[in-house]
Amino acid sequence: MENPERKTGYTGPWNVEDSLDLYGVNAWGNGYFGINAAGHAIVRPDWTEGREIDLHEVVTGLAARDLSTPVVVRFSDILRHRLTRLRDAFATAIAENEYQSRYCAVFPIKVNQQRLVVEEIYGYGREFGFGLEVGSKPELLAVMAMSEGSSDRLIVCNGFKDDSYIEAVILATKLGRTIIPVIENFSELALILKHAKKYDVRPRLGVRVKLASEGAGRWRESSGEKSKFGLFVTEILDLVDVLKEHGLEDCLQLVHCHPGSQLQDIRRVKDAVTELAHVYAELKQMGAGLQYIDIGGGLGVDYDGSRTNYESSMNYTLAEYASDVVYRIANVCNARGIDHPIIVSESGRAIAAHHSLLICDVLGSSQLDRFRVTETDEQMVREKKEIPQPVQDLLDAYRSVSERRLVECYHDALQAREQALQMFSVGYLGLEARGLVERLYWATCAKIRDLCRKLDSVPEELESLETILSDIYFCNLSIFQSLPDSWAIDQLFPIMPVHRLDERPTRTGVLADITCDSDGKIDHFVSLRETKRSLELHDLKPDEPYYIAFFLVGAYQETLGDLHNLFGDTHVVHIKLHDEGGWWIEETVKGDSAAEVLRYMQYDVERLVPQFARDCERAVREGRITLPESQAMRRFYEAELAGYTYLEP
Ligand SMILES: Cc1ncc(COP(=O)(O)O)c(C=O)c1O
Repeated sequence: MENPERKTGYTGPWNVEDSLDLYGVNAWGNGYFGINAAGHAIVRPDWTEGREIDLHEVVTGLAARDLSTPVVVRFSDILRHRLTRLRDAFATAIAENEYQSRYCAVFPIKVNQQRLVVEEIYGYGREFGFGLEVGSKPELLAVMAMSEGSSDRLIVCNGFKDDSYIEAVILATKLGRTIIPVIENFSELALILKHAKKYDVRPRLGVRVKLASEGAGRWRESSGEKSKFGLFVTEILDLVDVLKEHGLEDCLQLVHCHPGSQLQDIRRVKDAVTELAHVYAELKQMGAGLQYIDIGGGLGVDYDGSRTNYESSMNYTLAEYASDVVYRIANVCNARGIDHPIIVSESGRAIAAHHSLLICDVLGSSQLDRFRVTETDEQMVREKKEIPQPVQDLLDAYRSVSERRLVECYHDALQAREQALQMFSVGYLGLEARGLVERLYWATCAKIRDLCRKLDSVPEELESLETILSDIYFCNLSIFQSLPDSWAIDQLFPIMPVHRLDERPTRTGVLADITCDSDGKIDHFVSLRETKRSLELHDLKPDEPYYIAFFLVGAYQETLGDLHNLFGDTHVVHIKLHDEGGWWIEETVKGDSAAEVLRYMQYDVERLVPQFARDCERAVREGRITLPESQAMRRFYEAELAGYTYLEP
């Protein structure tokens, strides 16, 4: 295999261009991220050159305000920019296709339910006439209040609906909201009719179509005949009949589908939209009062920047998506001579992913190539009369490593180590000798790897050495809490150091979090070639913090996170560009304290402190500690309960 390491090399000069290239920033950054001359990662929230936010400056600025990492940093200006781009892409497609209606995005709040995020999206979306999508009753309750004074803006209601969910929808209709419950199963229709009658309102309603065209990728089962949601065509026809019986056919205003999230292949989008457009057209011709065609979510995010149909990427652009959607709907409607509907998309990921990133500090690293074979070791082998053969073989392998004998020496070392470990297991090898075996083996591997790095082409068997020998960087975060999709579905997120990007990264590593679970690690990294099994990082310097950023985490990560090991929500800061230049912190949301996460788990925190205090008193009485010591312990306990759940400097 061609040696990718040769390109980055391990010696020689290095500049920020090299880092841009190595981490693929221009590919996945989508114009929002870069590196400045100081070697710091930067954010360009509205793509304007010069209006840049230095992430290292942000981290140090937050530390000065007593906000330590891990921290989620949000950029509201990116949200606004994403919404504008979406509007612009559809506006262009609408003009190019002489489309006679408009486009409206409804943001599915499940993608990031944080109040500030939803409020910002709703606020920025006002000028474009964008709305919101909810998937549950609690989400609806939030949106019902938030949409006060915006009756004309669309609210789409998906998900399973019980009696009170439907009642809430009907009440919102009565209040004048443009709200459409999407019927996902037939029983919901009766509830709508019941509440519409009770409150004497003419409801709007939509229907989710079970498309025959299946989705693709991880969420392929969101669509297709086996999908959890949606009505079969037969049921939709029945629904129209029932509506007609009640003289309500004009109330059926929207057809909906959701072909799956992160659609990586544009063909899936085209198939789903075409099928849905035909359903729309036929129902319209049958007398339904349709006005909206809702193509659901699915617009992807190119997490790895490869522009391929790989799971973490997408093989189309936003412009192409908009163009295909508009063209296909127009085509079907033109052919059947019906008016063009308002196109609705429930794009979540594409709106929210870019706007937030997570920064954590590295607590330390573990290096397998740190083992050295010393003169004392060699002497030990020389002087021992009966040195076990595998140990001798390992020393020979270590000494013989040369460019011509790389594979051979690797095989010898592997075999000798295996034999030595077997001898240890049956008691024929002492602990000291086993330590020597360990040092010899890893030092041999490191020698072989170092020579491989100089080769144009690495022998296949030695390709994995780079990964095997990569370091473990311990990161002050919980992957379960902050990057759940990385753990649950192997989703890739771009990851890069926040600083020192003008320096050559001389180490490669995988990332481990601070939970006590071996699953809490990241060992796959984005790359334009193949997924990388380790990430290029800098040597840690004593007493100097090292920060790593995880990008494109604004969609789904926060709300899916859990409290594994009771690591709670991280701090969140909302950062905005200032009109007069620079940036400012618009809002800070403190992360969970230990007391808060304990409360989530039903601990009565008010009782914990007296309980602990009693124990301290007992220890004083029994003379095990002094009174001042007891007081100090209580203060410590109380302060820790109020403190951050993550490691603090
Ligand atoms: C019904 C529905 N609409 C919209 C979305 C948002 O999808 P995306 O984030 O891919 O745009 C989802 C997510 O899976 C969904 O289930």
